[in-house]
Amino acid sequence: MSKTFYIETFGCQMNAHDSEKVVGTLEQQGYAQVQDEAEAGLILYNTCSIRDKAEQKVFHRLNEYKKMQGEGKRFAVIGCVAQQEGEKIFDRAPYVSIVAGSASYRNLPGMLERLERGDQRITGLDDKKTTETFETPFVARTNQHRGYITIIEGCDKFCAYCVVPYTRGNERSRSAASVMEEARRMADSGYTEIQLLGQNVNSYRDPSGAKSFAELLHAVGTIPGIRRVRFTTSHPRDFTRDIVEVIDATPTLCDHVHLPVQSGSTRILAAMAREYTREWYLERIAWMKAAKRDISMTSDIIVGFPGETDEDLEDTATLLDAVGYDAIFAFKYSPRPNTPSVSMADSLSDEVKAARLQILLDRQREIQRINYQRHIGQVVEVMVEGHNRQRNQVVGRTSQNKTLNFTTAQPIMPALGSYQMVRITQAFPNSLLGEAQAAL
Ligand code: 5AD
Ligand code: SF4
Repeated sequence: MSKTFYIETFGCQMNAHDSEKVVGTLEQQGYAQVQDEAEAGLILYNTCSIRDKAEQKVFHRLNEYKKMQGEGKRFAVIGCVAQQEGEKIFDRAPYVSIVAGSASYRNLPGMLERLERGDQRITGLDDKKTTETFETPFVARTNQHRGYITIIEGCDKFCAYCVVPYTRGNERSRSAASVMEEARRMADSGYTEIQLLGQNVNSYRDPSGAKSFAELLHAVGTIPGIRRVRFTTSHPRDFTRDIVEVIDATPTLCDHVHLPVQSGSTRILAAMAREYTREWYLERIAWMKAAKRDISMTSDIIVGFPGETDEDLEDTATLLDAVGYDAIFAFKYSPRPNTPSVSMADSLSDEVKAARLQILLDRQREIQRINYQRHIGQVVEVMVEGHNRQRNQVVGRTSQNKTLNFTTAQPIMPALGSYQMVRITQAFPNSLLGEAQAAL
C-alpha cells in the first residue's frame, strides 16, 4: 500500500475538526494527503449519522469503493456511522480494513501500524466510556486565520431523538491549561480567530477545576493576537448568566450565541427529554437581550417530533417571533437507531413534516428580513473570507457571524484573513451589503 491517503468528511464542525486532527496524525506517521482518490493508497471516510438514513448513504458510498478494491487500496470508515454500525460494516463491505469511532482516534497510530502489517478488520469501537480526549499537536488546519479547538467531547444529555451520546461517548473535557497552550500556539503562528468546539460546549468542566467555561472564554479572548473567539454549540441546560457577562466584558468574544431550542412547546420539550420549558429557555434569551452588546442569536429546530400537534407547531412559531433569531437550522424529525424516540410512533407523514418545516422557514425569513434592517448605516468590522471577482465584491464575516459582502475603492482587494471596517448599506434576509471604509 502506498503511503498516500484521501479523506472525505461529512457532518458537523466537530467532525470537520476531527478530520484535521486525523490528517495531522497521518502526516506525522509519514502519509501524504492527495486530492484525488484514484491516487490514494488509503481512503478514509469520516461519517455522520445525525439525520435521515445516514447509514444507507454510507453503505451506498462503500459500494462505490468496492470498484476500487482491485487497485490495492485500503479503506477506513471512521466517525459516527462507524461507531453506530460497528463490525456490521465489515460484514457488508469486507474490503474495509478499519472501522473506528471518534472516541478511539488517539489510538490511530497503533491502528495504522497494524494496517501496514497487513491486518484486516481493525476496530476502534470500545472506547465510548473513556475519560480521555483526542489531544494532538499534529493538526492539519485547513484555514490559516481561523481555527477550531475542541474543548469537550461526547455528550451525556440523551435527548430522546439524538444519536450523539451513542456515537461520541461520554462527556469529557480537556484541561484548561491544555486548551490555553493550544490557543497560544495558534496565536503565535498567526491565527486571529479561535472557535471553541464541543457537542455541548458550555457543559465544559475543567478536570483540573481551574476555570469555569466563562473564565476559559475570557482567558482565550485575552491571548495577545487573538481578535475573535467563537464557541459552539451551547446547550440551554448549562447556559449560565456568567456567559453573557463575560461576552459583555470581553470585546474579542463574538456577539453571537447558537442556542438550539428544538421546539417552542413545553410538552414536546418534555417528550424530547430536553429538561427545560419554553419559559426557562426564554429567560436565557432575556439575559442576552439585556446585555450591553447586541448579541445575535441562532437556533436549531426539529419539526414533526412524535406527538407534535398543530398547536405545538404554533408554539414554536411564536417562539421564533419572541426571540427574533438571526438564523435557524430547521430539520424534519427522523428516527435514529438506539435512541429512545425510535420506539415512539413516528406517525406524521413526510408531507406533513415538510409542510410544517416550510411554515417555520417562511416565518423565520420574514423575521430575518426585518431583523437585518437594523444594521443599515452601522460601521462594523469584518474578517475577509473570500473574493467574488465576478461581482467585484469582497466577502466578509461580522462578529455576529453574518455574511457582509462589500465593495472597496482600493485597486487591490484586501487579503484573506485581514480585518476591515465596512459601512452597511443594504440588508437581505441572509446577508448584508456594504462599502469598505478608508483606513484611518
Ligand atoms: N431528527 C432530526 N433532527 C435532528 N437533530 C438531531 N437529531 C435529529 C433527529 N433525529 C438536529 C437537532 C440538532 C442538530 C444538530 O440536528 O436540531 O441540534
Ligand atoms: Fe453527525 Fe452528530 Fe456525529 Fe457530528 S456528532 S458527525 S452531527 S452524528
